[in-house]
Parts: sequence; structure tokens; C-alpha cells
Amino acid sequence: MSRITLPPLVDGDLRLRPPSDVDVTAITAACQDPVIQRFTRVPSPYTTDDARAFVRFCNDGLARGSGVHLLAVDPDDDRLLGAIGLGIDRTDHSGELGYWVAPDERGRRVALRGCRLLLTVAFGPLELAYVGLHAAATNTASNALARRLGFTHEGTLRSAMLDGPSGDRTAPRCDANVWGLLPGEWQ
Ligand SMILES: CC(C)(COP(=O)(O)OP(=O)(O)OC[C@H]1O[C@@H](n2cnc3c(N)ncnc32)[C@H](O)[C@@H]1OP(=O)(O)O)[C@@H](O)C(=O)NCCC(=O)NCCS
Repeated sequence: MSRITLPPLVDGDLRLRPPSDVDVTAITAACQDPVIQRFTRVPSPYTTDDARAFVRFCNDGLARGSGVHLLAVDPDDDRLLGAIGLGIDRTDHSGELGYWVAPDERGRRVALRGCRLLLTVAFGPLELAYVGLHAAATNTASNALARRLGFTHEGTLRSAMLDGPSGDRTAPRCDANVWGLLPGEWQ
């Protein structure tokens, strides 16, 4: 697989860029949020070592062509707003979208704009034929975002997810909604 070269990804007061070690403190702080821990697969508890591993994972993905995992930042002061990522399956020419937004930055379309920018890459230069998204059925915001982005609800995986921090065997299980998007369906 070959390195992914990204065009500038900016929408108003939001820019997507790869993370680096300067972001470790801000990523670690954001990932203490109980809602991010509840609905994403970030490690729990979340440490600076986890953030460093995330930075490596993102940059490896770009170098190997296996993923586009970026931070959403404010272009003026480089403040961390969130993370938007796309895992790539080169065999099927498909991708899997994921995201979190820092608690104080929610409700102003960081996720919507960040996902749209990443979808321009997915269906543009990467020429993917399908982008999927899995959201816990209990995750109101994520399911609403998927619909708002134009994804189609394609099915439900029964009891497929934990509704709680990664690896917490005491957390309740919940259904997973499968959402899918084809080229031309989202603009
Ligand atoms: C899901 C999440 C990323 C949304 O981020 P956000 O930046 O606040 O979302 P946006 O402002 O871009 O919202 C886009 C659309 O999603 C919907 N939406 C977002 N939050 C919502 C909420 N709490 N309730 C209902 N709808 C919501 C709205 O339709 C909104 O469109 P609108 O502004 O035109 O009304 C954020 O809540 C989050 O980080 N949650 C924890 C992590 C997580 O759940 N990740 C996803 C795992 S599948």
C-alpha cells in the first residue's frame, strides 16, 4: 500500500490535520470524557501513553495507506476540537468512519463538517465504493449525525456492542446500528 497524500482540509473555523506529539496532552484530556469512553473504543482508563499510541497509529495509517485518522482543530489557535477517522479496506475498496468531539466543542457541527471533509477524500482521491459506520443504538447523537450525513440505516446487529467503557464486562450490551453511504449519496 502507498502513502496517502492529503489535500488541505478546511471548512470555516475547522481544519483537519494529522496529529503529532504536541497533541498528546489535549487528546488525553478530551478522552477522559465519559461519553467518549462510553461510545467509542478508546482505552479506559485513558493515559498519555494511549494518546502517544494513537498519534503513532494515525501516522502509520497515512504512511501505509490503511487509514486517514485526523484531528479537527481550530485553524487560528490549533485548539483540539475532535478526531475524525476513516479506516480503509483496500480489498473491498471500502472504509469505516469514526469520530469523537471534545465535550466543550459539541453542537456546532464539528463532526458534521469534519466527516464531510473526510468523505471528500474517501470518495475523491481514495475512490472508495462504500463507507460504513457502526453506532450503538443508544447513541442518539451519533445515529442522528449518520442520518444527517446522508447515510442509510442498513441494519441492526443484535447485542453487538458494549454500552460502556472499552472492556468493561459489567457494562450493559446494546444493539449496533449499521449505516452505509455510497458515492454520490452524500453531497
Ligand atoms: C457524536 C458526536 C461526535 C457529535 O459531535 P457534534 O460535533 O456535537 O455533532 P454536530 O454538531 O456536527 O451535529 C451534526 C448533526 O448531528 C445531530 N446531532 C448531534 N448531536 C445531537 C444530539 N445530542 N442529539 C440529537 N441530534 C444530534 C444533529 O442532526 C446535527 O445536525 P444539525 O446541527 O443540523 O441539527 C459527539 O456527540 C461525540 O463526540 N459523542 C461521543 C463520541 C461518540 O459517540 N462517537 C461516535 C461513536 S459511533
